[in-house]
Amino acid sequence: MHCKLIGVPLQDGASRLGCEMGPSALRTAGLQPALEELGHSVADLGNVMPTEFSDIRHPNAVIRQLPEIAAWTGLLTDVAYRESAEGMPIFMGGDHAMAAGIIPGLARRAAEKDRPFFVLWLDAHTDFHSLDSTDSGNLHGVPVAYFTGRPGFEGYLPGLSHPVHPAHVCMIGIRSVDPAERRAIKDSGVTIHDMRSIDEHGVAVVLRDFIATVEAAGGLLHVSLDVDFLDPSVAPAVGTTVPGGATFREAHLVMEMLHDSGLVSSLELVELNPFLDERGRTATLLVDLTASLMGRQVMDRPTRSY
Ligand code: ARG
Ligand code: MN
Ligand code: MN
Ligand code: MN
Repeated sequence: MHCKLIGVPLQDGASRLGCEMGPSALRTAGLQPALEELGHSVADLGNVMPTEFSDIRHPNAVIRQLPEIAAWTGLLTDVAYRESAEGMPIFMGGDHAMAAGIIPGLARRAAEKDRPFFVLWLDAHTDFHSLDSTDSGNLHGVPVAYFTGRPGFEGYLPGLSHPVHPAHVCMIGIRSVDPAERRAIKDSGVTIHDMRSIDEHGVAVVLRDFIATVEAAGGLLHVSLDVDFLDPSVAPAVGTTVPGGATFREAHLVMEMLHDSGLVSSLELVELNPFLDERGRTATLLVDLTASLMGRQVMDRPTRSY
């Protein structure tokens, strides 16, 4: 596989500074050599950065950095569309507002390739606020509502050429949902596996169902991995920790099963805040999880494991 590393030093969607250092920490933790060791070719395309911002205002006065997020969204849509023509783009974030640009760009490419497009959202949060409902004003809390085409973004973020079908979005790890998000997502069609569902059934069971759906549709699958999907005890480097997250072993199993599926065509690593890390352990874990997704395994397995 040809992997393309793309740095997205975006932190305007989060309340705490530091996510702009995420791409550097992932490089320092050895993402490129880890992939090369697995036999992949890797090109590090460097970081992208918007240059033009227009003065956009929204009546919801708590919203922070709207002109910046609008500029990043437009830029990242173009970058993701371009870099997904061939090879496997790996976007190194950057806060989760980056998904508002990247996912529509990937969706446009998938449509052009005539392939249904699916998103696996690994996160403690649903990130399903509208611009009207956000009460924190942090725009990393809105990308899923935006890229699934919910109302209220018109005129503020770029228009969507290919909204993602809500039924093609599966969330795993959810354990922090604001009341307005909960109301909006209820009948949206998005599939949500909260932590209780993982506890009751195991992560393999819930993931297997989704993989089967993507496979049956002949789809392309994008994986959006928010650091706070993981339990803070193994991944402290994130500004929005929530207790009770995925364990080290659950997270590796998810990645290994995704590898075996052969369906993943792009990846985002988001919300890493290296300022909050402990001697790089969270960045190192993200590199190891990416290696599992890209084929690292303990023992050779004769057949796929599910
Ligand atoms: N729902 C909360 C908010 O809107 C938290 C969002 C956290 N999102 C994230 N990508 N870390 O502020
Ligand atoms: Mn998130
Ligand atoms: Mn989150
Ligand atoms: Mn909130």
